[in-house]
Order: sequence, then C-alpha cells, then structure tokens
Amino acid sequence: MSADIPVLAIDGPSGAGKGTVSRAVAKRLGWHFLDSGAIYRSLAIAVLRSGTSLDDAEAIARLAAAMDLRFPTGDPLQILLNGEDIAHEIATETCGNTASRIAAYGPVRKALLDKQRGFRQPPGLVADGRDMGTVVFPDAPFKIFLTASAEVRALRRYKQLKGKGVHVNLDSLTKEIEERDRRDRERIEAPLVMAEGAILIDSSELAIEQVIARILKVIGK
Ligand code: DC
Repeated sequence: MSADIPVLAIDGPSGAGKGTVSRAVAKRLGWHFLDSGAIYRSLAIAVLRSGTSLDDAEAIARLAAAMDLRFPTGDPLQILLNGEDIAHEIATETCGNTASRIAAYGPVRKALLDKQRGFRQPPGLVADGRDMGTVVFPDAPFKIFLTASAEVRALRRYKQLKGKGVHVNLDSLTKEIEERDRRDRERIEAPLVMAEGAILIDSSELAIEQVIARILKVIGK
C-alpha cells in the first residue's frame, strides 16, 4: 500500500537550503513533510541529556528505539520528546554535530528506519535528509540532490543563526560545516551520496523560489 504513495526525496549537505525548500514544496503540494535531520537531532538531545557516551553505539541505538518522538503538527516546529517540546533546542551547531556523530552508527540508523518510513502517508511525502533516496525510500519516484558551494552554505547558515540572535564566528562555522559534511559523506552506513536517478540542483546562485520552481517542474506540477 505505502509503495503507492509518492515520495519526493531531497538529499544533500547541510546548508544547501533543503529544509526551507522541502517545507515549501510540501506545502504547495499538500503533502506530508519529513525532516529526518530533526529526528537525528532529537536523538542527539536524548543522548546528551542521558549522559550516554557518544562512543556507545549500542546504548544510543537502544535510546533511539525507546524514545517517544512525536511531531504533533507534522512539522518539526513542534517536537515532543517523551512528551516535552524540544523544538527550540535542536537548531544549535552542537546538536547538529552530535547528530552527525551518532548518525554514523549502523544500529542507530536501523532503529530510526521505521519511524521515518511511517511518515509515508497519503497523498504523498516530501522527505528531507541525507539518505532519503538511497536507503529510507529507495523506491521514491522523485529524487533530488540539492547542493551548494561550501562557502555559500556556511554564509547562509551564519546569516540564519545571526537572525536567531545566535552569535557565531564565520571561520569556525565554515570549518564545522566542512567537518560535518566530510563525516556524513565518508561514513560506511548510508553515506551522503547522490541516489541513482537523482536530479542534481546546485543552489549556490539560485534564489529559494527558483529552486522550488525547478523541483515542482521535475515532479510535473
Ligand atoms: O539535516 P540536519 O543538518 O538537520 O541533520 C543533522 C545531522 O543528522 C547530519 O549532519 C547527519 C544526520 N542525518 C543523517 O545522517 N541522515 C539523515 N537522513 C538526516 C540527517
């Protein structure tokens, strides 16, 4: 049954604009939205709070399997982790970097597979992440690989954080983003790679609206 429900997989490195674009496309289509990074980030919060060692893959996988994670509005603007709203905590670089570290563990990824696949509900799903088109929804009829140059991605993230009143240094942010991308690309389990048949969009020189228009064209809307 769920195989009949269309999925638009949007994968790519951090800061390529996936979050904004995926949410907007989902809204235009009236489809559900999966921010898989928010799931890894929520697990990172659970791990940090519990004091679990970041080296203990099995313990982290057990936490992943046991955590009660809900998106009451279907959007990570509200995330309930064991009943508590943690949405405001997941945006930090510490959380993103911790998420990237624990996401390298195979047992952790396996424990989160069904949670992600559960988002595939009619009339369709826009799924944002690193392995949406390769591992989680390999049968997705639409696959996009959204990227941008490292400089552009770092600058966008810098502006985004500044807008939220978070003070960061552009140089160290650039280094952190490069380090996170390297880890996400080079890991053994579900590395960030372009899925077979995916369409590459480089957003370095494009406005968000242009990226959205291209994606809607790809899926014939
Ligand atoms: O998309 P994001 O920046 O919120 O994701 C945070 C980290 O979570 C990212 O650096 C790697 C991991 N992640 C992953 O391994 N697979 C996904 N599908 C989504 C995120």
